[in-house]
This record gives sequence, C-alpha cells and structure tokens, in this order.
Amino acid sequence: EDHIFHQEESPSSPHVVIFPLPIQGPINCMLKLAHLILYSSQSTISVTFLTTDFIRRRLDLNSTFRSVTTTNYGPHIRFETVPDLVGPDEDPRGSRHVAELTRFMEDQAKAEGSRLREVLAYGSTEAELKKPVTCIIADGLYGCMADVAQELRLPLVYMETISPCGLWTYICLPNMLQAGELPFQGKEDLDAAITSVPGMETYLRRCDLPSFCRAYDPNNPVIKLILNEAKNFPRAQGHIFNTFDKLEGDYFPHIQASCPNLYNIGPLHLNLKCRMIQHKATNSYSNSLWLEDRSCLEWLDAQPPKSVLFVSIGSIAVMTWDQLMEFWYGLVNSKTRFLWVRRPCLIIGLSDEEVESRALGVAEEVLVGTKERGCIVSWAPQEEVLAHEAIGGFLTHSGWNSTLESIVEGVPMICWPCLADQQANSRLVSKVWKNGLDMKDSCNRVVVEEMIKELMETKRDELLVRANEMAKLAAEAVAKGGSSYNDLNRLLNDIKLMKF
Ligand code: UDX
Repeated sequence: EDHIFHQEESPSSPHVVIFPLPIQGPINCMLKLAHLILYSSQSTISVTFLTTDFIRRRLDLNSTFRSVTTTNYGPHIRFETVPDLVGPDEDPRGSRHVAELTRFMEDQAKAEGSRLREVLAYGSTEAELKKPVTCIIADGLYGCMADVAQELRLPLVYMETISPCGLWTYICLPNMLQAGELPFQGKEDLDAAITSVPGMETYLRRCDLPSFCRAYDPNNPVIKLILNEAKNFPRAQGHIFNTFDKLEGDYFPHIQASCPNLYNIGPLHLNLKCRMIQHKATNSYSNSLWLEDRSCLEWLDAQPPKSVLFVSIGSIAVMTWDQLMEFWYGLVNSKTRFLWVRRPCLIIGLSDEEVESRALGVAEEVLVGTKERGCIVSWAPQEEVLAHEAIGGFLTHSGWNSTLESIVEGVPMICWPCLADQQANSRLVSKVWKNGLDMKDSCNRVVVEEMIKELMETKRDELLVRANEMAKLAAEAVAKGGSSYNDLNRLLNDIKLMKF
C-alpha cells in the first residue's frame, strides 16, 4: 500500500520529496515531518521519502512507523531508496563518518542521470510511478541541493534538523574567522568569550562552539560541508525549524535576516502527536533504527515518581571505556536510580562483546549498586521513557531531538555534549533556558555524582519550575492557534502554491 498514490490524486497535485541525511536524528525528524504533512494536508500532498537501502532495512526491522492508521484516511508515504556505503550488517553509526555519508549522497544528487536525481525530480525511476515533484525538502546540511534544485527548476525548502542556536554558530563561522576569533588552538582558554556571533554575545564561549572549532582545519571534511551549508543557506525558498517561537532567543532575528521565510513547526514530535489526536489516529509509532527494549517501561512502572535519572548519549556520540567507568561510578555513587542506554558500538575501540565481558569484571560495589538501583538497555523507547512519571532527570548528550523531547516532558537535564550543535544546545539549557546543568568537558566520577545530586535533589525545585514553564510553552505552540500550529498550516499552503 506504501507504493500507490491515492486514486483521486491528479498528476499535477503537490508532491514533495523529503531527503534526509541517512542517520538517526535527521531520519527521525524528517519522517515525522513526512507524517505531519500527510495528516495535516489530509493526504492532498503526496510525499516521497528518499533515503538509503540501509536505512530502509533498519526501519523495516526495528520501527513501527508503517502501522500508523487513522479512522478517516490512510497516510501513505512512498519510500524510495538508493544504495549507500554501508554494508548490510554495519551499525548505522558504524565506521562511516557523517561527512563521508553526506558527500556520497551529494555526489549522487549532483550526477546527471543518477537514480537519486531522477527520484528528486519525479519521485521514482519507474515510468508508471513517476509523478513530477513540486517541492524538495532536503536536510540543511546538503548545501549542494541549492544547485541541484536550481538545475531541476524546483523549489527547495531546507529542513534544519539541528538546533537553530547550533546552526547559527555554523552560519557565523565565516564571521568568526574574519573577526579573528577562529581559529584558536586546542584546549587553550576554552572559557574565552566569542563576540562575533550576533545575538549570543553575552554567553557564548569557545567551548560552546561545535567541537571541530577546537582544531580548526579548513580541510576537515565536516568544516567544508558546513561552510558550504552556510553559503547556501540563503538560497532556499524557506527553512523548516524544529523549534517554537517562544523557545528562541536574540539570535533568531539574525537567522531570519539571512532567509526571511522560516517555518518554526516544533517540537515536531508533539506537533505530530496533536495532529494525530485531532485526526483520530490510533497507533503510536517509532522511527528507531535499533530495536527498542520496552522492558525498561515495566521497570520504570515499579519506581517512585520522579526518582529515576535517564541516561543516553544518542545515536552517534561515542565514549572511551574510561569515560564509561567514570559515568558508571558517578551514577552508582550518587545513589540515584538510573535507566541507562548503552547502545551498540558505543565504546571507542571495543566491540560490544568486549564491552560486555569487561563490564562483568568491574568492582563488586558497582555491580551491586547497579543491580539495586539501575536498569541498562541497548536502546529505549525514549519519548515514552521521558514521558514516564518515574523520570526525574535526563543525563543527555544534548542532541537536538533529545533536548526537545526533554523540554516537552518538563524533564530537567544534565548536558554532556559531544559534537555538532550539542555544545551550543547545552549552553542554552544552562544559561538561557535554565532548565538544566552543563557538564561539558568534564568526565569525572566525582563531578558526575555531584551534578546528579544537584539535578535530583538540591537544585531540583528551581530546575523543575523552569522545565515545567517550558513544557507549557511547547504545548501551547502546537495547540490549535499556537505559533507552531500556524506555521505548519502556512507551510502546507505554501507547498501547494510553491513555484520555482
Ligand atoms: C544527531 C546529532 O548528534 C545532534 O547533534 C543533532 O542535534 C541531531 O542529530 P543524535 O545523536 O541522533 O543527534 O541525537 P538526537 O538528536 O538527540 O536524536 C536521537 C533520537 O534517538 C531521539 O529522537 C531519541 O528519542 C532517539 N532515541 C535515543 C531512542 O529512541 N532511544 C534511545 O535509546 C536513544
């Protein structure tokens, strides 16, 4: 059923092709966007989701996204895939670097006559399934799509799957270089203020910039991609942000100045949930690339309200075995209950089997503390976990999806950012939104223990006040008449009218 358009559709009706990066965060976001478009447009807009064979395989194996049903109509997302670099048994993070995957996809998009380019133009390579695309929605990191869309004479909207604050630090890289604030060397004076990112002058420091700034090398493939992204940002007809107006700060008007047409339709997952309820959709679903271990929900059911710290560093970030030990000791010594996601391929240089066998040999007191107060899973139904009443805090890598999911549920955070926009996100959490604590650049069992105690005990009440206020703002944004609700409607109307 996935593969057929509605019969009543005319060949000229709107048809968007959604083109995410082939990694968990963006896939999750953009699948939600695909569903939002289908639900909210009552399927009057056709949606083709263009991803890789590997991602499709993982979704088929692990996610339940295909089981969405409504009482009124069935949303259909057509999946089109292209081959990628990843072997059938590789972990999605695997040995492939994000930059390598992105470049590989970009090369295909640029190549005339390639399968990917054909799908971008017609949604399919098969004659009977072709239907001219009327709008491309691509991940903002695909800078080359500005050229490709122009060549195909199609309107382009970028979907920014990272945070606006993080994206703004990307876009300002040329500013910072010009102002001489970049490059700086290694770990020297990481607290030094950064003043050439407009709107963030009062709180941004070197350590809050993306980690690649610490060893700034213009030949670093990630930096090349990001400079290209910054250059092409103003060329799209619009940008979709997974945020809501009241979350955004003084830097946001500066983003708007480079591209006036912004759609703030987040938090996406909450917006989708509300639209599904509105349309009497019954099933919930996940977009996970790994199999969710739902037994942790039963474990949570048996814990007191707001007593458990949820610990996860997302889908890409990795840590060393020594860092894992610091976290482990910190968690156990804090005497707090914890639910910890230890994802496959989490530890640098060790196979999952090696990690497992080393873990059996840690000190008895750690094993006993874990058994008494902890639950460890390899992948959790995170949105449901954060919504569970037993959860009192979230030790997170500050990925943008995780941050928003935590905000929606009013869960205060300890941030341990690793890469990309995460450094900036954690700064906003601790300094601007004040709904969490920033533990960046520190991985020490004593610090972990102390921060957990602050989060769960001494600073709990003040953090909870802010977290609850923000949760309320998020809910208002997606409710009927709210800013994200209205921006989504505007996006849908614009998609229907958009011309090159
Ligand atoms: C990547 C980048 O690392 C991040 O900086 C950027 O903001 C988005 O893309 P990722 O590591 O995938 O992020 O983290 P995040 O954005 O937080 O997304 C992880 C997603 O996986 C979340 O939606 C979360 O709910 C889900 N998840 C995570 C699970 O469903 N189960 C888990 O056990 C862990």
